[in-house]
Amino acid sequence: MRYHVAIVGATGAVGQELLRVLEERDFPVRSLRLLASERSAGKRLAFRGEMIPVETLQPDSFAGVDIAFFSAGGARSKAFVPCAVQAGAVVIDNSSAFRMDPETPLVIPEVNPEAIAQHRGVIANPNCSTIILLMALEPLRRLTRIRRIIVSTYQAASGAGAQAMQELLDATRAYLQGEPFEPRVLPHPYAFNLFSHDSAVGEDGYNEEERKMILETRKIWNDEAVAVSPTCVRVPVLRAHSESIVAELETRPPLEAIYEAYRAFEGVSLVDDRTRNHFPMPIEATGRDAVLVGRIRYDAGVPNGVALFACGDQLRKGAALNAVQIAERLP
Ligand SMILES: NC(=O)c1ccc[n+]([C@@H]2O[C@H](COP(=O)([O-])OP(=O)(O)OC[C@H]3O[C@@H](n4cnc5c(N)ncnc54)[C@H](OP(=O)(O)O)[C@@H]3O)[C@@H](O)[C@H]2O)c1
Repeated sequence: MRYHVAIVGATGAVGQELLRVLEERDFPVRSLRLLASERSAGKRLAFRGEMIPVETLQPDSFAGVDIAFFSAGGARSKAFVPCAVQAGAVVIDNSSAFRMDPETPLVIPEVNPEAIAQHRGVIANPNCSTIILLMALEPLRRLTRIRRIIVSTYQAASGAGAQAMQELLDATRAYLQGEPFEPRVLPHPYAFNLFSHDSAVGEDGYNEEERKMILETRKIWNDEAVAVSPTCVRVPVLRAHSESIVAELETRPPLEAIYEAYRAFEGVSLVDDRTRNHFPMPIEATGRDAVLVGRIRYDAGVPNGVALFACGDQLRKGAALNAVQIAERLP
């Protein structure tokens, strides 16, 4: 079976990565339609040696499309996903628009692949920080139930899109040249600085990114009782998020069994060299499919606690790769 595929948001950071991942994994594409805003009409993007024109997203863009990848923001997904489903496409949505909809499966293929079969036209890709967190914890969760997670994120510019990556480069250049720089995309100076995640803060003091990590973890694990305590921070890294994680477990497996579980789990790469002080770094996670995990140790403060550090390329496993892996498993 070869598919007629559409990418909504093809010119964006996730859209560009989708093109690369589809090509690298030799996804069975029969035809490819690239969609974006009218600003991009006339642009051409390369796929398998061909330059494909970018079209303006319209309600009738989906005739004959089998699989539509959406990565153009929640508002576009809310407005146009129903058009794609109506036209008969299966939608894999990278935005947050449908993630918590009870009828929409929220899927990380290595964690809850069984949810894919329950779709009614739309499958949601989880938030990138949630994907990296749950990939980093999956080997542990296969050994014993996880009761509580305390996680602090160190999130890269790429998580806020292509323009934020450009802003980090421009702001750094201006800083080094001693020139003033007015942020355009992110709310605070980004060069040589870090700040609390730039999503809206609710009455409970949690920002949207943190709330996504709490709610999406419960949904993906199908475990309403799991406690998640997140703190999300934007750091001046171009690409690949990092997370410091403490997991409180039901039982305490031997450390050797934990290491073995990580070595055996596809999708995670163990980077844990204590003698050389070499642990996961965003620069080494960039462009990689695997989530890097290391600094694995029993937590000093929590009974049955395990602490670890993870880095993952959120444009790949946190977005494009996860979406394509879902498409590869469609019934
Ligand atoms: N970046 C990440 O790590 C990440 C991870 C997971 C999920 N996501 C989600 O994926 C989506 C895209 O993120 P991104 O980082 O790729 O953003 P981005 O780099 O800013 O790209 C946004 C894309 O959406 C298109 N778009 C914007 N307004 C549009 C409109 N009115 N009609 C049609 N297309 C429109 C843009 O087209 P133009 O070029 O024509 O403006 C561009 O292709 C968001 O929902 C985001 O939350 C992002």
